[in-house]
Amino acid sequence: MKIRKKTHPSRRAFIAASAGLAVTTTLPVGRVRAAETRDMGIREYDLAAAPGSTRLAGQSNPKTAVWAYNGQVPGTEIRVRQGDRIRVSVDNQLDEETTVHWHGLRVPNVMDGVPHLTQKPIAPGKSFTYEFGVPDAGTYWYHPHQRGFEQVARGLYGPLIVEEKEPIRVDRDLTWVLDDWRLKPDAQISGDFGSFHDMSHSGRVGNFMTINGREPKKFAVRSGERIRLRLINAANARIFALNFAGHRPTIIAYDGQPVTPHEAPQGQVVLGPAMRADIVIDMTNRPGESFKITDTFYRGMGYTVVDLAYGAVPLRDRPLESSIALSANTMPEPDITGAERHNVQFGGGMMGGMMRGMMGGRRVSMRDMMRNGKAWTINGVAATGHVMDPLLKLLRGRTYVLTLNNDTAWHHPIHLHGHSFRVISRNGKPTRHREWQDTVLMAPRERAEIAFVADNPGDWMFHCHVFEHQAGGMMGVIRVS
Ligand code: C2O
Ligand code: CU
Repeated sequence: MKIRKKTHPSRRAFIAASAGLAVTTTLPVGRVRAAETRDMGIREYDLAAAPGSTRLAGQSNPKTAVWAYNGQVPGTEIRVRQGDRIRVSVDNQLDEETTVHWHGLRVPNVMDGVPHLTQKPIAPGKSFTYEFGVPDAGTYWYHPHQRGFEQVARGLYGPLIVEEKEPIRVDRDLTWVLDDWRLKPDAQISGDFGSFHDMSHSGRVGNFMTINGREPKKFAVRSGERIRLRLINAANARIFALNFAGHRPTIIAYDGQPVTPHEAPQGQVVLGPAMRADIVIDMTNRPGESFKITDTFYRGMGYTVVDLAYGAVPLRDRPLESSIALSANTMPEPDITGAERHNVQFGGGMMGGMMRGMMGGRRVSMRDMMRNGKAWTINGVAATGHVMDPLLKLLRGRTYVLTLNNDTAWHHPIHLHGHSFRVISRNGKPTRHREWQDTVLMAPRERAEIAFVADNPGDWMFHCHVFEHQAGGMMGVIRVS
């Protein structure tokens, strides 16, 4: 499959479409388990981060050299039950330092995997054991927090699924980790990580899309089947807007957190980097029919993600009618009326107007920032590393409403560690579902209010999840004590 480039029109790195592959498969769901035991409710996993190679781009292309967990992209699916404890021993077989961050999970601060801020990075040849309980069910993922713009782009990421104590009834529960890669014609990853152009524009948008680390071919389904699809956007920068022709996906969770089941707005499931959505799709069409799942986020650059193909034999006459509402997770309910309010401004980037910023404690011009490889600010400050003065100091147990203002010409998926928040309004209008999220996608110039109880003590990252923007300064620390 081909994805035309959004940025760098001069660099035409297209993969030859692998034609003629007549295999009909269901997608790999990446459920290979590492050594795991269930002693005293502790689920143990081993993750080795190491260089490897995988067949990303089909049989007609060479294997792609990647960095991977346990030799596979995505890495081992960690799948546990709500209330379990997880112990993961991470072995760093890379030539550089790394850490693992458990995206969206409300872990103790020391287990959050942020280099220098919450732990010493794991040196090459060394290992580190993470251990924490999982209070909430949902769809999460893990990835390095060290040089994410390269480590994640090279393939270091994996799904982390926490099953509900009482799961909803579906015929199949599938995880699709979406990614896009910047591949050269020889199917190898382009080495231009952290380029200033990517950093100051929309980030490293790739040209080759994968589901669970493979070029998607055909997704086989059956009439009457009910599928729960856990979508995870592991791309550095690409935003997906998925359309399911002929079907009406119902969203049951955002970022792992239950939401009142509702049809996807405009039939589209929009996922910024790091975001997740759990959707339920009833296969309401006839045997032998086929439909396209397309991604149309970038205007004029739509493409088919995968063909959804009905098999000859129906599963049942009519779809299931049982409830698909998930039971609530354990986040404390924010007390909006008694909340303390703060403003957060996101600034910088190309076409954002002239600006100045603080960098390393000094007031500098945009040009000076750019000379130092920085392009973005939060409340006027461009981060130069993970350790910095807190942008906000919050009192443990209090409710906070943060008004996030995107003062730039670009989209930003803004992520807070250690907490989930309710998105209560956008551009002054209350949101319909007051959805819990850990990453909120903000359109250019958009304003959003988020509310949460600061109940998890520690220094927490608050940053854009376009990894190039994060490296370019759009990162801050929120202290809860
Ligand atoms: Cu998914 Cu700060 O990370
Ligand atoms: Cu951003």
